[in-house]
Amino acid sequence: MGNAARRWSLRTVSIVSLVILFTLITATSAFADASGQPGGITKEAEDMHQLYLLVLAMALVVFVIVEAALVFVILRYRKKSDQLPEQTHGNNVLEVVWTSIPIIIVLILFVFSFVTLTKVDKEAKPENLTVDVQGFQFQWQFTYRQNDLGPGSDPKATGEVVILGTGKDEPTLVIPVNEPVEFRLHSNDVIHSFYVRDFLYKLDVVPGRDNSFKVTAKEIGTFDGQCAELCGINHSLMRFHLKVVERADFDKFIADQSAGSKKAAAATGK
Ligand code: CUA
Repeated sequence: MGNAARRWSLRTVSIVSLVILFTLITATSAFADASGQPGGITKEAEDMHQLYLLVLAMALVVFVIVEAALVFVILRYRKKSDQLPEQTHGNNVLEVVWTSIPIIIVLILFVFSFVTLTKVDKEAKPENLTVDVQGFQFQWQFTYRQNDLGPGSDPKATGEVVILGTGKDEPTLVIPVNEPVEFRLHSNDVIHSFYVRDFLYKLDVVPGRDNSFKVTAKEIGTFDGQCAELCGINHSLMRFHLKVVERADFDKFIADQSAGSKKAAAATGK
């Protein structure tokens, strides 16, 4: 090896090492602060977050290997003269390797995604609390039925509690903690999307189709939600809040709301 070649291969090795080092550092700190994705507040979100981390880790490994190989080849085999380097055609070992690696990656991703999807998409039970979510231009309406308020609710009870949002008054959706809750999504106008970031999940709200999903919130607190589908000029006004509370506070919320609407009905003589 001549002096020049030795200098270049040394430089190549240093650059490649730097690239790998930089990638590893970014990767480690990204993983440390939950990889840029918050963990989510539901049981279902835990699984989705794990899947996200797996995909991210695999993508990082591919990224580091591909970039390192790229930088190495660019520096090591850059054009030195007009003479063509040795040409090779058809290498069976290489062909098998670069076909099977992507197949294995896709298979792993498919299996883990499928397992997560079946866990997340588990149907709610009839005795679980159900909230009807109506998306409309440009806000949300949340409806609780008195006979469908989760464990212990009276199947013969009648009446509803309706939380109606307006552009100025963002509605708050209240659900109990540690209980499966089913959301049924409806729309009468255009396609909206029901999105609470901390669910790590969103679902389209489609006219003529009833979409539903189930979550079990495991953290008490107030979280933000919004429409995540461009649905018209005031799409940005379709914000709402999600409040996760203890069961007792949820029962109190429902009682207060129905007392409030009874009082209002009495005052207007309806
Ligand atoms: Cu509804 Cu955007």
